[in-house]
Amino acid sequence: MSIGKRILKIVAWIVGIALLLVLFLVAYVQMRWDAKDARPAPDLKARTDSASIARGEYIYRYTAQCWGCHETPHGGQNPQQAGGRLFDLTETGPGFGKWYSRNLTPDVESGLGGWTDGEIVRALREGLRKDGTTLFPIMPIDWYHGMSDDDVLAVVAYLRSFQPVKNTVPEREPSFFAKALFTFKMIAPKEQILTPIATPHRGITPEYGRYVSSQIADCADCHTPRNMQDGAFYMDSLFAGSSFAYGDEAGEPLVSFARNITPDVETGIGAWTKDQFIEAVTTGMRPDGTVLTTHMPYAYYKFWNMDDLEAVYAYLKTLPAMKRTVPPTAMSSQLAASEGVEHGKLLFAGRCQACHGENASGAQPTNVKLAEVSASLSDQDLQEFIAGGQMNLKMPAFGKTLKPDEITDIVAFIRTVEVK
Ligand code: HEC
Ligand code: HEC
Ligand code: HEC
Repeated sequence: MSIGKRILKIVAWIVGIALLLVLFLVAYVQMRWDAKDARPAPDLKARTDSASIARGEYIYRYTAQCWGCHETPHGGQNPQQAGGRLFDLTETGPGFGKWYSRNLTPDVESGLGGWTDGEIVRALREGLRKDGTTLFPIMPIDWYHGMSDDDVLAVVAYLRSFQPVKNTVPEREPSFFAKALFTFKMIAPKEQILTPIATPHRGITPEYGRYVSSQIADCADCHTPRNMQDGAFYMDSLFAGSSFAYGDEAGEPLVSFARNITPDVETGIGAWTKDQFIEAVTTGMRPDGTVLTTHMPYAYYKFWNMDDLEAVYAYLKTLPAMKRTVPPTAMSSQLAASEGVEHGKLLFAGRCQACHGENASGAQPTNVKLAEVSASLSDQDLQEFIAGGQMNLKMPAFGKTLKPDEITDIVAFIRTVEVK
């Protein structure tokens, strides 16, 4: 055999072995990605008294905001919590596939009716489904992991108070990459919780503020930078601003980064007073008069107990000041390229819809039917109202955020909405 042929033969062998390895890896990932964790669910039981249900509702709707993710799409002002919202992550990073929020009503077949209280607790704090497979971490399980027994059981008590709704949510569709992350435990359930977790003493203290902002609300989840490869949080940079943009993966008109809210004076909120902080968090109005995007869920934070917000502020004040600036809010190319009513429609979706609902028909935070009430107002009155807001009702003033022609386009859009 000539030297050339011998080399060819060796190369063929190497390629063959490499192909076999790849095939083996693919088969291994396909077989192993949804392996079951055999740990038992904790033996915890939710109470059914009205105080527990009310606490659960507060966490579910306003602090953790399970509500927005688990509502059935297009449900109007009081949507059912029967899941089905699509999280399309096919274009995010290397592509993670498609995920659907689940039906949390007590329907036995399609919801949580067949789950024990302990299994729901395990899902929330440890990230396992009833069958022991791992949940994809769209839910902030890293943080819920520290939720107290009383609070997690209050959430369960609230879930049990829903009417059962039959709604079979589509099965998840992980990409191969996501499956590989599961297989090699880059996405893994959290450590098993074996000892009771007590709620820190409630009060305006940094300790309680840490618990609220990190364990039962999602401030830490959104505002902390992450490793973009595996999603792990940089815990030494707590609250220094997000690493990725909100709105991007969802194809929304506006794309914004969660800002640095450590006490750094230049790049964080070190120069803000407590009142300015509370105003920004509950009305979206920053001290300079501009309005935050609704990726920052301020529309829901206006329903908080004032003590909880003050505790969060007290806690943020104790963090190390970090110098870090996130990129500014940007428009999607679709918004930038649109004009007239279409422009107004997209601006409405980016700026107003979180409070006023799809097609201005009302939503949970603000149930005024905008299209209906606008009918009796002149264009000029409407434009002035939008620019000036109504802070006593927590309608932010958009005069420093939107240009006059943008407001004109929004009004033009509102005029096209059919009043039913
Ligand atoms: C950012 C969106 C988001 C938030 C916030 C969120 N969830 Fe989820 N949740 C999801 C998605 C998506 C899934 C499905 C993940 C999967 O298929 O692996 C899910 C799955 C679940 C499951 C598992 C159900 C099943 O059938 O497997 C439970 C239980 C659950 N969520 C309860 C809650 C509760 C209670 C809260 C608030 C404390 C909450 N979720 C907050 C998006 C969210
Ligand atoms: C779903 C993600 C998300 C959650 C949850 C969230 N934020 Fe934000 N936050 C944002 C985004 C995005 C911005 C920036 C919006 C913009 O630039 O218009 C922001 C901005 C802010 C600002 C304004 C900072 C500045 O310099 O203008 C403050 C203050 C703030 N958030 C505090 C909080 C607190 C406190 C919580 C919890 C109670 C919280 N956020 C929860 C996404 C989030
Ligand atoms: C944080 C939530 C929030 C956001 C965001 C928001 N609004 Fe409002 N808006 C309100 C509230 C609350 C009211 C007062 C409702 C009432 O009368 O009880 C209101 C009232 C209004 C009214 C007056 C309706 C009337 O009763 O006469 C108009 C017009 C309006 N909003 C337009 C807009 C437009 C346009 C945008 C986006 C540029 C917007 N709003 C964004 C909360 C919001």
